[in-house]
Order: sequence, then structure tokens, then C-alpha cells
Amino acid sequence: MSQVFDVAVIGAGPGGYVAAIRAAQLGLSAVCIDEWKNEKGRPSLGGTCLNVGCIPSKALLESSENYERAAQKFADHGIRMQGLSVDIATMQARKAKIVDTLTSGIAMLFKKNKVTSLHGRGLLVSAGATYGIQVTEGDQSEVIEARHVIIATGSLPRQLPMAEVDNELILDNEGALALAEVPRKLGVIGAGVIGLEMGSVWRRLGADVTVLEALPSFLSAVDEQVAKEAFRIFSKELGLVIHTGVKIDTVTKGKGKVSVKYEDQAGMHKAEFDKLIVSVGRVPNSASVGADALGLKIDARGFIEVDDHCRTNLPNVYAIGDVVRGPMLAHKSSEEGVAVAELIAGQESHVNLETVPWVIYTSPEIAWVGRNEQELKEAGVAYRSGMFPFTANGRARSLGETNGFIKILADTGTDRILGVHIIGPFASELIAEATVAMEFGASAEDIARIVHAHPSLSEVMHEAALGVDNRTLHL
Ligand code: FAD
Ligand code: NAI
Repeated sequence: MSQVFDVAVIGAGPGGYVAAIRAAQLGLSAVCIDEWKNEKGRPSLGGTCLNVGCIPSKALLESSENYERAAQKFADHGIRMQGLSVDIATMQARKAKIVDTLTSGIAMLFKKNKVTSLHGRGLLVSAGATYGIQVTEGDQSEVIEARHVIIATGSLPRQLPMAEVDNELILDNEGALALAEVPRKLGVIGAGVIGLEMGSVWRRLGADVTVLEALPSFLSAVDEQVAKEAFRIFSKELGLVIHTGVKIDTVTKGKGKVSVKYEDQAGMHKAEFDKLIVSVGRVPNSASVGADALGLKIDARGFIEVDDHCRTNLPNVYAIGDVVRGPMLAHKSSEEGVAVAELIAGQESHVNLETVPWVIYTSPEIAWVGRNEQELKEAGVAYRSGMFPFTANGRARSLGETNGFIKILADTGTDRILGVHIIGPFASELIAEATVAMEFGASAEDIARIVHAHPSLSEVMHEAALGVDNRTLHL
């Protein structure tokens, strides 16, 4: 009889591959099934995050920011540049090499941890004492058996019916990351995380970028004060043209051009672009395992229904990451993967969704953890706020990155930190201190009493904490 695995994981994104490794570390026999192929047609582990998400986008953000620094900021340092130019092919090759190194790194981690890795589409075909999973690759198919199943099938770009993605003229994240040259005019539908990150890349490299956002407010999920500062910097300094409160009417493809008719308060407009990115959110990829036939519960928005421990309604079947409720973020997926593997191994484990940090990798970066001012006001929570700008920080001055601030929100009665909001340099790194503080139930006073290195950006966090008690020192 063929082997019955303790755990079968479907999907090898940051949720699935981490779950499989943790299960194997705990002595469980684990198989991970994934169908992703890269542009060369080769299996490539790591899911959306490594192949067409977090990693390639950060590679291009770094390259384009270096170009912009060289073009616009080096002169302030007395560094003169002549004949500066961009070679997109080299930039893309660097990105591809980073992706290749990291995706093949997962294959090595699987080997090291004795995770069986199968390439192909995994379908749940039978339930009983064990689950049967059919793995199909081309015309080859086999059925494997497992006592526990973890569904980690991730998400897909949400489509707009009037703007069908062809990744030639109309692009999703995959196309937006793979452009071979800088479009002269780039349109972006959706001023969310992808729209702003990809818009930044191509703007810095020379494109005229227009962002069309449906909601009347900009970055509505972000603290209002941060969103306001971001709008100012992205429009005035980066040069993104951002229209909010827009309703897309029609999208028409022409010869090498795409034209968009849209309506806002001022009436109907028409704009013509060389490329158009559609970044209007992502939808859970819950249909791909065929589990509805086994009675797996899926909610009205397409998410697999799970409890606080990622248990589905089917016994011993779990679901994690983008395919379930909560933020669609790689680190959230991975932590759910760890928690579920530990639960299966009989341990206690849990992920606190209240303290998942968010980062938008624009320049300046935006990062936050916990609740923002709008949310606290709506919930009727009494809070105090401390804020400190990067412009008053020595390290930020030496970096030449003085835009933005850190804001700490703390409970008026207990001083417990309720949320931390950053717009500024290295916000992605600075948010870690806030996340640790919140997980440990720290007060603003705790941060105010901790010694922070000088000169460092972390002093801005220190001063913001002092500010909660109105005793900022350097302002
Ligand atoms: P995924 O990464 O989507 O992986 C799912 C895997 O399952 C895929 O490999 C898929 O092929 C496979 N699969 C699906 N169905 C089957 C099946 N039936 N059989 C076999 N295999 C199957 N998040 C961050 O935290 N930070 C960032 O900086 C960031 N940047 C991003 C940038 C972009 C452009 C995009 C699009 C996303 C970004 N994200 C970022 C979000 C992040 O990529 C996702 O939250 C994360 O990848 C979700 O992980 P997952 O494991 O749940 O699913
Ligand atoms: P998003 O949810 O961040 O933003 C989508 C935007 O499109 C919203 O502002 C929405 O109001 C707008 N929109 C929706 N329909 C529209 C329409 N018809 N016309 C105009 N605007 C419309 O989604 P996005 O940018 O596609 O990213 C998907 C997810 O991927 C993110 O929510 C995040 O979870 C993840 N991600 C994370 C990153 C990070 O952590 N740095 C980077 C990129 C993506």
C-alpha cells in the first residue's frame, strides 16, 4: 500500500511551504503539492509572494529608487552624475535572479526537512479516515492519501469585466512586474497597495502615471493623517496624478494604446495610455481544490470559512493565508501555517490577527500595526496620541529622508498602545518595535523609558512615545 502522509499541504506559497516545513520539523510526514510554473515553464515554489508578488516588486522598487536617488538626490551629497541611464533588461534580470535564488531555496529547504514536494494541481477527491488528493500534472495523475489537509491555495487578481487582462496592454501584477520598457503613459486602476508600489516603480523610471481610484478618499484603510501626508508626497514630490471618486466607464484597446473613459464629480473624461495596470484587489482562490464536492464551506465572498484556529467545517481540513479571512499578507499566511502545523502535532498555537503589521513599500514607506484614529473614534475608545516628525531627527537628516512622522495611539486610561502609524524612511523595519510592544501589551510609557540608540530613526518612535504624555524632548 502507498504511504499515507500525516499532512498534505495544497499550495506552496508562504503559507503552504512554511506549514509543510514546520509539520516536518515536528516529526510529521508532510507532502506539499503546488502547480506554479515560471515563465520558462519550470515548477517554481513560493506562490504569488516569491514569483509575482512581494519579492519581485521589492526588487524593482529598490532598483527604481536607486535610479531616482542617483538622478535627484546624489547632487545634494556633492556626488555628480553624468550620462545616467536605465537598462530595464538588466534590472529585470536582477529581479529574476533574486526570484530564482529564493524559489530554489525553498526546494532545498524541502529536501533538508524531508518534505515530499509534488508538482501539479491538487484536488480533494475523497474523505474518510484519510483524505484522497488527486495530483495532476499534464496527462499524469496520481492519488495520494493524508490524515490532515492544509489548503493554502492563495488568491488571484480581481478582474474588472470592462478591462480584461491580456498582460500586453492591460496588466495585472504579473504583467506590471514584467514590462520590458518604460511606458510613456501608464494608467493604473485602483490606488491600493499594488497600484501605488507599481505606480512608484514606473514613475521613478520615467513614465507619466495616472491612478484612478473608485473611493472618494485616498488609502481609506490607512490612518487618515498618514493617508493625507502620503497623498501630498505622492502627488507633489513623486509626481503621480491621482484621481479619486472615479467610476470607470469603458476601457478600449487600440493599436499599442488603451483608452479609458471614466467619470468623476467634474463629469466624463477620456485618457489614453500605453499600458494600463488593473489593481483592484485580490480574490481568494478557493475553487481550485474542488472541495465544494466534499461539502467544504465557502462564504459569500469566496473565502474558505475557518474558525480562529484555521479549522474548516471538514474534520482535519485546515485553510490558511489569502484563501481565508484576515489580511492578505505573506507573513500572516506563514504564521497561520506554523500555527496549524503545531495544532496538528498536538501543540497549542494561535495567530493574533490584531497585531499583524502592514507595510506599503513606497517612498517614503508606510507601515502600521493595530487600530488607527478613525477606528478608535468609531469604537468610542478614549485615546491619547503622540507624534514626532522625521524632520527633527538627526539620522533622518543625514539620510536626506525627512518626510513623514511616527504616531502612537494609547489608551487614555491604561496608556496601553492601541496602534502605531508610520510614514517615513525604513518604516518597514521600525514597525517591528511597535509590533513587539503591542504583543507584550506595552504602554507608551514603556517605549518612552527604553533607551534608543543615537543617532537612529528609532528615536522618532521614542519621541512619539514621549509625546503621548506631552513630554517630547526635541520639538
Ligand atoms: P500564494 O502565495 O498565492 O500561494 C498559493 C500557491 O498555491 C500558488 O503557488 C498556487 O499556484 C498554488 N495552488 C493554488 N491552487 C492549487 C491547487 N489546486 N493545486 C496545487 N497548487 C495550487 N504581502 C506581503 O506581506 N508583503 C509584500 O510586500 C507583498 N507584496 C505583494 C506584491 C504583489 C504584486 C502581490 C500580488 C502580492 C503581494 N503581497 C505581499 C501579498 C502576498 O503575496 C500574499 O499575501 C501571499 O503570497 C499569500 O500567501 P499564500 O501562501 O496564502 O498564497
Ligand atoms: P487593494 O485592496 O490594496 O487596493 C485596491 C484598490 O482598488 C482600492 O483602493 C479600491 O478602492 C480600488 N478599486 C476597487 N475597484 C475599483 C474600480 N472599479 N475602479 C477603481 N478603483 C477600484 O488591492 P491591490 O492593490 O490589488 O492589492 C491586493 C492585495 O495584495 C493587497 O490588499 C495586499 O493584501 C496585497 N499586497 C500587499 C503588499 C504589501 O504588503 N506591501 C503589496 C502588494 C499587494
